[in-house]
Amino acid sequence: MFEHLQTAPDDPILGLMARFRADSRAERIDLGVGVFRDADGHTPILDCVRAAEQMRLAEETTKTYQGMAGDAEFNAAIESLALGDHAVLRDRRVFTAQTPGGTAALRVAADLLKRSRPDATLWLPDSTWANHAAVFRAAGLAMREFPYYDAAKQTLRGDAMLAALAEVPANDVVVLHACCHNPSGVDVPAELWPAIAELALKRGFLPFIDMAYQGFGEGLDADAHGPRLLAERLPELLLATSCSKNFGLYRERTGAISLLAANPAQAAAAGSVLLTGVRNIYSMPPAHGAALVARILTRPALRTQWLQELASMRERITAMRTGAVAQLAAAGANRDFGFIARQRGMFSFLGLTPAQITRLRDEFAVYMLDSSRINIAGLAPRNLPHFAHAVASVLRD
Ligand code: LMR
Repeated sequence: MFEHLQTAPDDPILGLMARFRADSRAERIDLGVGVFRDADGHTPILDCVRAAEQMRLAEETTKTYQGMAGDAEFNAAIESLALGDHAVLRDRRVFTAQTPGGTAALRVAADLLKRSRPDATLWLPDSTWANHAAVFRAAGLAMREFPYYDAAKQTLRGDAMLAALAEVPANDVVVLHACCHNPSGVDVPAELWPAIAELALKRGFLPFIDMAYQGFGEGLDADAHGPRLLAERLPELLLATSCSKNFGLYRERTGAISLLAANPAQAAAAGSVLLTGVRNIYSMPPAHGAALVARILTRPALRTQWLQELASMRERITAMRTGAVAQLAAAGANRDFGFIARQRGMFSFLGLTPAQITRLRDEFAVYMLDSSRINIAGLAPRNLPHFAHAVASVLRD
């Protein structure tokens, strides 16, 4: 049965994580997988999460099945976190299901699209999360790219993006990142979201927003500006959210898929089809992470604590952005890296060649993705000088 199978290639992100873990050099720096790290390089359990876990331990009364849509309290809380106090929630035009992480949210939405519009093409930014295409391909969707990242200027190709979206056929789907664009750190600015809404209405395409970093860019509300504006102006929308980063619940696989439909009946019908897909793949999501998030978001003291912890994660990343720019200049890097401080979220591209990236790994134990994406949260005051020296060295030689 299996004799004809060849070993699959390493995952570009998780494969690098394994290679880093096998490296024992003292000065090694992991700028690969997108996880938050504190100044000691540790990915902490948030204090609010620990407190919610204690509470849950005391309060939990059963381990019986929860159902395909998961935790109803979580679903309501995560909807309001993403969409704010939005009229579409009061109008009951939104259906939300808890999912095992943001990845499963993307996948079950993709399955829904395949059932609803089998011939739809999914349009992805020309630079996007390394796993996006694989997840959507697994659901059988056709894909195309639209212009997004200007590698020469390290900015958004705003005009080219809007021109391409103006040609997207009706009933196709356009994937957008709400904030903290992974991998470039270059976001759609607030002033361009109305133009996207207008094009979606005019052309009849469906925006599908991935929001995996709410709170890591400018703040919870500012980061959700795009999805909230589209929800205001469009009849339909898909929104995948993740609690991996902003609640630090990576391995608890906690996320959600929300769909906005033209009216409550259509939202309920589409939701029921989505849950059929859920039943086919994983039956129902795991309980633990969502139970914690539900408590954190609904108990005022825990919520306040979470907001503080989230702000300090965001501030640490912002400080490392400016720190990296200063240290690279101080190390004599023969290139201006000022763009790193202008970008947001966990990631930026350094714009290095494959040979330079290999040298960084082999000679300096500095690990980044083959695309030259770095996880800014992997930087810390203690490793910035080595990082800057290593990058300046490979640029010079
Ligand atoms: C990343 O982009 O590094 C993270 O989203 C982790 C992952 O699953 O790829």
